[in-house]
Amino acid sequence: MTKKPIVPMPVIRRLPRYHRYLEELLKNDVKRISSRELSEKMGVTASQIRQDLNNYGGFGQQGYGYNVEELYNTLTRILGLDKTYSTIIIGAGNLGQAIANYTNFERTGFNLKGIFDINPRLFGLKIRDIEIMDVELLEDFLSKNKIDIAILCIPKDNSQIMADRLVKAGIKAIWNFSPIDLDVPDDVILENVHLSDSLLTLSYRLNEDKLLKNKVEEK
Ligand code: NAI
Repeated sequence: MTKKPIVPMPVIRRLPRYHRYLEELLKNDVKRISSRELSEKMGVTASQIRQDLNNYGGFGQQGYGYNVEELYNTLTRILGLDKTYSTIIIGAGNLGQAIANYTNFERTGFNLKGIFDINPRLFGLKIRDIEIMDVELLEDFLSKNKIDIAILCIPKDNSQIMADRLVKAGIKAIWNFSPIDLDVPDDVILENVHLSDSLLTLSYRLNEDKLLKNKVEEK
């Protein structure tokens, strides 16, 4: 069991989108937005936005709408983006390297401190000045460096053993890309990413009309 959030997960999943959208408004120098305008642009009802934000105290005033900068700053704080985080990547294959090379995470405060792999051919190679280390050095590294988030990019067969090692070494948050349901203690936060779920949703939608048409014709 991973740590359960207090606010419902669907609400939490909407927050990054609000934040992203408000950032765009700020960039375009928009100072204020009505809840109706915000909801229309985001494709969420105004009451949904209000309810979501009410979990964290009320924002916006009747008839005034939202002060864009204020709401953006509040969401920044709610999402914990007013702090920085140290991360490590386990598995420096295609995915691990792509994530390591993506500098935007750093811009948002997620600082990559170490990359580990099991393949000796990768040891010593650098990605953005960070050396790929032997995964045997992981526990020693974690005892000397305060790491907040481990990013797991290894084949699924090795993932549970690696998660156990990370938890034992004190890691409290795992961003898991391995296609496996990991078992972690209650005080560890596990966030799974499945790009393929999104791709399959896309392929479903490409086929939906035909699928439902056939169903009607079968009747
Ligand atoms: P890859 O084979 O290119 O890289 C895997 C790397 O992990 C290799 O360098 C290998 O030496 C290393 N490794 C294996 N066992 C290890 C261990 N115990 N400790 C440290 N390093 C270890 O594979 P790729 O394409 O990078 O995929 C990695 C994982 O991510 C796979 O489980 C894959 O299924 C998953 N994946 C998930 C996606 C998602 O959306 N969730 C998208 C793409 C890949």
